[in-house]
Amino acid sequence: MRELLYRSLPHFADFDPSDLAILRASLRNNARAGITGYLIRASGQFLQALHGPAAAIEALMARLGTDPRHRGIEVLIDRAAPAISPFGDWSMGYDHFLPLETGLDFLPDGARPALTEGQIEHAWERLVAAARSQGEFGSVFPYARMPGEAAEPYLARIEAAL
Ligand SMILES: Cc1cc2nc3c(=O)[nH]c(=O)nc-3n(C[C@H](O)[C@H](O)[C@H](O)COP(=O)(O)O)c2cc1C
Repeated sequence: MRELLYRSLPHFADFDPSDLAILRASLRNNARAGITGYLIRASGQFLQALHGPAAAIEALMARLGTDPRHRGIEVLIDRAAPAISPFGDWSMGYDHFLPLETGLDFLPDGARPALTEGQIEHAWERLVAAARSQGEFGSVFPYARMPGEAAEPYLARIEAAL
């Protein structure tokens, strides 16, 4: 098993419905591939944490690399992982905003700041904690998975919204 964290630059603005299409593909494909994870928009960027079989993660990263809905993928973590996912049965969790306090914000010249190892670990831990908290308490974002909502009804709700 591997776990991976990357940041990337969204092509579409915050709250663009294209995120729902991303979520639909993620929920469908990841469940089949044994991938779990969490995707957020924070500081004008995507941050996605993934856990799953190495080959499945590699195949997903290849698709992500050619997806025009974002660019500038920067892998921050790519390492061997325990068999049990920190994201439970969430083939993909999603939230629109998360105050990360990890120093992700763009620099005045528009560039992304370099991140220290500590900031990267902190971002990973925040995503894991956010996934747990969302599973327990939900999120204000209407298309986030709700507490107690099973994967299939969640996918059906996302498909109905598209
Ligand atoms: C930020 C971002 C995150 C994505 N996350 C996933 C994911 O976790 N799983 C997935 O299968 N596709 C994900 N996608 C979509 C893939 O790039 C690709 O469009 C999709 O896997 C193609 O699958 P489909 O042929 O079933 O539509 C993501 C795309 C973006 C822009």
